[in-house]
Amino acid sequence: MTHVITIDGPSGAGKGTICQLVAKRLGYHLLDSGALYRLTALAAERQGVDFEDSDGLAQVAAQLDVVFSTTELGVNILLAGDDVTRAIRQEQVGMNASRVAACEPVRAALLQRQRDFRQAPGLVADGRDMGTTVFPDAPVKVFLTASAEERANRRVKQLQEAGQSVDFKAILEDIERRDKQDRERTSSPLVAAEDAVEVDTTAMPIERVLDVVLQLAQERLG
Ligand code: DC
Repeated sequence: MTHVITIDGPSGAGKGTICQLVAKRLGYHLLDSGALYRLTALAAERQGVDFEDSDGLAQVAAQLDVVFSTTELGVNILLAGDDVTRAIRQEQVGMNASRVAACEPVRAALLQRQRDFRQAPGLVADGRDMGTTVFPDAPVKVFLTASAEERANRRVKQLQEAGQSVDFKAILEDIERRDKQDRERTSSPLVAAEDAVEVDTTAMPIERVLDVVLQLAQERLG
């Protein structure tokens, strides 16, 4: 049985970095499920599929032609042969991904694709519903949170480091809008699994969060 560690939570709680570090430390595979929703949104936009057209969106999700490859610099993503590693991280794609993710047929179309990432020796799954829906039997479940202000601060820093000009207020509003959309949707809303350990990272340095997660994995997986 291949072990799975699920790490769920809202955008900007530090999940992405923590998942990469945990996967690296344990030599596990990594599933960035948010990237699949972002890719669906980008592919739909490129193919001219209306964001109100659930069946059209589900078809885009089912037929996603995507290749993830791990490089020295991180994960590289090709969509229909085109390198979209950076393009899918744009704020607008994130907002569209949140809309697409509220569509049940899209979630259903992506379910098996996500489960297929479960490969030996183990998987770290980053998302919103990894512990509740995609891998409900995972032995280690973490739910990372942080205040919206702290998450906006981290996002601003990230974007500035990437050379983009940013407006804190607009980023905070985006985060709050997306949280609301993700929490209130009827299909797989953003909520901690009953057996998840919640960690508030607002005042925690990343190394401390990593320690907490690795400690938990050690306790549960031996
Ligand atoms: O983690 P992220 O910001 O890359 O995710 C983009 C959007 O995808 C986010 O607004 C919610 C959605 N998402 C989801 O609904 N379920 C997941 N497992 C992962 C992401």
